[in-house]
Amino acid sequence: MKGILIAVLLCVSLKSMALGFVCPADGLFLNSEDKHSYFQCASGTAFLMPCPSGLVWDQSSHVCEWPSVQASQRFLIVIGGNTTTGKCLDIAGGDAVLHAQIQLFRCHGKQNQQFELNHDGSIRIMGKCLDIPDSRAIDHQSIQLFHCRSAQENQIFTIDGENRIHVMGKCLDVPNGQIVNNNPLQLFRCHDQASQRFTLVPL
Ligand SMILES: *[C@@H]1O[C@H](CO)[C@@H](O)[C@H](O)[C@H]1NC(C)=O
Repeated sequence: MKGILIAVLLCVSLKSMALGFVCPADGLFLNSEDKHSYFQCASGTAFLMPCPSGLVWDQSSHVCEWPSVQASQRFLIVIGGNTTTGKCLDIAGGDAVLHAQIQLFRCHGKQNQQFELNHDGSIRIMGKCLDIPDSRAIDHQSIQLFHCRSAQENQIFTIDGENRIHVMGKCLDVPNGQIVNNNPLQLFRCHDQASQRFTLVPL
């Protein structure tokens, strides 16, 4: 199994093979020249691995993380292509009231589509945080806005190399894969389809 994994990694990573980085051991290492990527060392060979768009490598936690909110960088979170062909995550109703739902909508870039990605894992918008209601991480659960509670598990999101956004062991998902206005975002088991692939577009 491990052999297969390494073989797959070698195949997908060959074109990004990193010359000039000497692996101290197998594992994941900081790329001191570019924090938007890291080195993966396998059997003594280094591969340069990009972080998903918008994220930076954190050597202490060994993951690509949201950059600090202090940078005040805001993003559109797009699904289904780009801001023209796809849709943006959006606050249903437009107002950041408690329990407002997150939905898909045409990308217009106004305040209710401008997300900040905090280093504590929270995804913030208009002073509130994306939140899993009652911490019930079940399939088809909706995503709401709530008061930010730093380091509470139902507000800690991570993004993986396939651009899926994880929380509490599930993934953010578009119901029935329908990338249309007003479709509410949901939680679902993680899978490989386009309805879970998000692109972060810096504003
Ligand atoms: C979005 O994607 C379409 C189709 O691939 C392309 O024609 C268009 O130029 C892109 N628009 C932007 C804003 O990138």
